[in-house]
Amino acid sequence: MVTAQQCVAQRGRFTLVASGGSTPQPLYRLLATLPFAHRMPWSQTHLFWGDERCVTADHPDSNYRLVKEELLAQGLLPTANIHRMVGEIPAATGAANYEEELRNFFVSHGDEAITWPVFDLILLGLGSDGHTASLFPNSSALNEKTKWVTATPPGVLAPQVHRLTLTLPVLNNSAEVIFLVAGAKKKTLVEQIISHRQGQAEYPAGYIKPQGKLHWYIAEV
Ligand code: 6PG
Repeated sequence: MVTAQQCVAQRGRFTLVASGGSTPQPLYRLLATLPFAHRMPWSQTHLFWGDERCVTADHPDSNYRLVKEELLAQGLLPTANIHRMVGEIPAATGAANYEEELRNFFVSHGDEAITWPVFDLILLGLGSDGHTASLFPNSSALNEKTKWVTATPPGVLAPQVHRLTLTLPVLNNSAEVIFLVAGAKKKTLVEQIISHRQGQAEYPAGYIKPQGKLHWYIAEV
């Protein structure tokens, strides 16, 4: 909340990347209700997605749909500030289009010569296989060093559909990253990831080492 207000005070905008999955659902709902709906500078917030399943926007597996139902339906953000990943077109096209949208956004907001975008805050989840966003174990997407957005084939976890995902250089160029994790089983996984900070990471989430701040919030539900 404070980060958002500080960003708006400094640059007149707050760029927030929503996580997929179900864990952040209560957070989106909370931020859409009083008093947080008024404390968040939603009218100056630009909302993006860290990844999306290649399904229609109204599909039960759509990451956009979850955020729409819990947050966007309240009409707090201007439509132009909602930057949806389009999952219902061929994945490679969807990835290229989203990258173009990101480049246009950051260039039009004064970041002409950037190599990588700097999002103010990126929310991430953690899969039980150690994936984050849609960067799955052993995926070639983990080695992507030039694209901002890429398409990935289905992972082993449901839903097994093609995905669009921000790449590691983009995620690691963020000013701040918050992992939201729920479940005792994942707590052990988080401990392994956090303790394994040197050398080759064991899990994709272990490659998240942002230039900015990194926080882990774990609910042992
Ligand atoms: C996705 C997500 C993915 C998710 C984790 C955790 O589209 O699947 O972005 O990275 O955050 O799999 O999902 P849950 O919060 O549902 O456990």
